[in-house]
Amino acid sequence: MSEPSDPLPPPLPEGDPLDELVLFEDLETRRQFLKKVAGTSLAVTLGPHLIALASTPTPGGSEAPSAATKMMSVQLKINGRDYHLQIDPRTSLLDLLRENLHLTGSKKGCDHGQCGACTVLINGRRVNSCLTLAVMHEGEEITTIEGLAQGEQLHPVQEAFLEHDGFQCGYCTPGQICSAVACLKEGHAKDDAQIREWMSGNLCRCGAYPNIVDAIKQARDKMGGGA
Ligand code: FES
Ligand code: FES
Repeated sequence: MSEPSDPLPPPLPEGDPLDELVLFEDLETRRQFLKKVAGTSLAVTLGPHLIALASTPTPGGSEAPSAATKMMSVQLKINGRDYHLQIDPRTSLLDLLRENLHLTGSKKGCDHGQCGACTVLINGRRVNSCLTLAVMHEGEEITTIEGLAQGEQLHPVQEAFLEHDGFQCGYCTPGQICSAVACLKEGHAKDDAQIREWMSGNLCRCGAYPNIVDAIKQARDKMGGGA
């Protein structure tokens, strides 16, 4: 008699049938499976911050100190001022600005790189500060909304936003202004369509877009086409 072409899987081990489950061709008890699921759900619920507080097992089986305890020394230049800081290396630039240095002009809208409320300038380029780690920017020039004015003299973009009512609630405005400064410097403000395109990473829930465009055009003309 010929062998069947598709042999049957090996029989389940004996015991309580509800206590056993075949998963991905490996044999695992139902209890082990449920423990794993429960652990995964807990991890999702607690989030990365709390999970990171737990110690990390090493290949040798010993417990390594968690990343939360390993502070890093970093030197940052923000708005022309040098800061020597000891920070958790996982700190976003936005959290460093707001929580550590109390520079709360940069706003946390989404914390996911989608709204632009946290926009700052790094070496003149716009960056979503919620998406970058502070420790990555040693030796770079970081400019926030607090650093645009010269003493009492507002930046031309700030003045133009005031004159054109380029905001309503104002939550997106620091990011809009920082972004507009870079947009002008890039030469991406030739007409309304170009301004709208190159400012599209900065969302305004109040819908102040027409006034924002007018403000940027005024600043462009006042500054002779760029920053
Ligand atoms: Fe950074 Fe929204 S808070 S993009
Ligand atoms: Fe309110 Fe832009 S002014 S979100």
